[in-house]
Amino acid sequence: SRVSHLNKSIAEIEAALQLLLKLKVDYKGATGQDYQAGSPPAENMDESGNRSIADGADDDTVDPWNVSTTSAKGVDYDKLIVRFGSSKIDKELVDRIEKVLGQKPHRFLRRGIFFSHRDMHQVLDAYEKQKAFYLYTGRGPSSEAMHMGHLIPFIFTKWLQDVFDIPLVIQMTDDEKYLWKDLTLEQCHHYAVENAKDIIACGFDINKTFIFSDLDYMGSSPEFYRNVVKIQKHVTFNQVKGIFGFTESDCIGKISFPAIQAAPSFSNSFPQIFGGKQDVQCLIPCAIDQDPYFRMTRDVAPRIGYPKPALLHSTFFPALQGAQTKMSASDANSSIFLTDTPKQIKNKVNKHAFSGGKDTVEEHRQHGGDPDVDVSFMYLTFFLEDDEQLEKIKQDYRSGALLTGELKKILIDTLQPMISEHQERRTQVTDEMVQQFMTPRPLNFRY
Ligand code: TRP
Repeated sequence: SRVSHLNKSIAEIEAALQLLLKLKVDYKGATGQDYQAGSPPAENMDESGNRSIADGADDDTVDPWNVSTTSAKGVDYDKLIVRFGSSKIDKELVDRIEKVLGQKPHRFLRRGIFFSHRDMHQVLDAYEKQKAFYLYTGRGPSSEAMHMGHLIPFIFTKWLQDVFDIPLVIQMTDDEKYLWKDLTLEQCHHYAVENAKDIIACGFDINKTFIFSDLDYMGSSPEFYRNVVKIQKHVTFNQVKGIFGFTESDCIGKISFPAIQAAPSFSNSFPQIFGGKQDVQCLIPCAIDQDPYFRMTRDVAPRIGYPKPALLHSTFFPALQGAQTKMSASDANSSIFLTDTPKQIKNKVNKHAFSGGKDTVEEHRQHGGDPDVDVSFMYLTFFLEDDEQLEKIKQDYRSGALLTGELKKILIDTLQPMISEHQERRTQVTDEMVQQFMTPRPLNFRY
């Protein structure tokens, strides 16, 4: 119909506009100048060291602060593996995980949502030899509003904790958000505690999990701070400039922050958990944009006598408007929030989820839709557990048997109970529980 055609055009324009604005911000970040059409940057930009690490041979931007691409299918993750020098989570690795665990791998592994790794084979070797390792992940608490994209690493980490039965540390980088955003220390710390509730609601085991705010823990743990200083001594300004694109006008807090995100990768940062052992291997599940921190960490580790952390990288959770960028908490219409009501979820999906369907029912029936650019289908790949059902939806959508409205209905029916259940679990998280999770203490493991 004309209306759906119009809606689709508006959605496309919105997506393109968002991308343009992002690119302008990227440009300014990389060159220090406002973008002006027809006035390209000077050739020597490279040497200034001011370029974002993301500026590779192609036009995908992926760094801790920006994610964007011009492709409706999203970032080219195979190219990213080459650019970052990580390894693909291929069928062989997924099969090995299944064999080692004796159970079906998580759907995020089966479907390539966690798609890249560093040293995962080494972790599995260690596990087979019953050597200890632990999990580390984190969250930058920049507001109270968490969206579904934020949960991806935590859902997966919860699964890893269950199947491997190992300790987990979760870093809340309230210091990072204070340094990067226009927020007070009190706000950032408050968001850390509020976000911890959503994280706890993912089902983490209190006997196996330590959640910490940097603002609290740094000051209370000499061992943690010692590791921060060790790391700081072994990384130069030139190195972080190269890795993160910092410039001389960035505050020194930003320049030294990467050492704070690196420190939890080393087990002796948590003597209450690991009894002072400094060689317990760390495994970090995270979105691929966090990799620069851990490339740096892995570079430093052997020089300060610690094992390199292993990594599992996820793809991004696409914005409703399309996979050109990820969900953003600062754009309400791009995201489904953990606080959204069933009605809001329904409206957002119906109104904003970019569709790979055709403009009219007749055309759609005849030519079929494109699941590769369809955001509703992409979301189902994250959340629909049944592989066969998902495959059937894909085929039916491609053939035209399944209409966009019907696809959206399946997504809405999947998301509504998921989010309501999350909300229900979150209301059960008491302040006292948060307090407990965030208290430095031994966990249920002996070293
Ligand atoms: N910098 C991350 C963010 O802004 C937070 C973070 C800290 C993190 N340590 C981590 C994320 C380890 C993944 C793994 O969200």
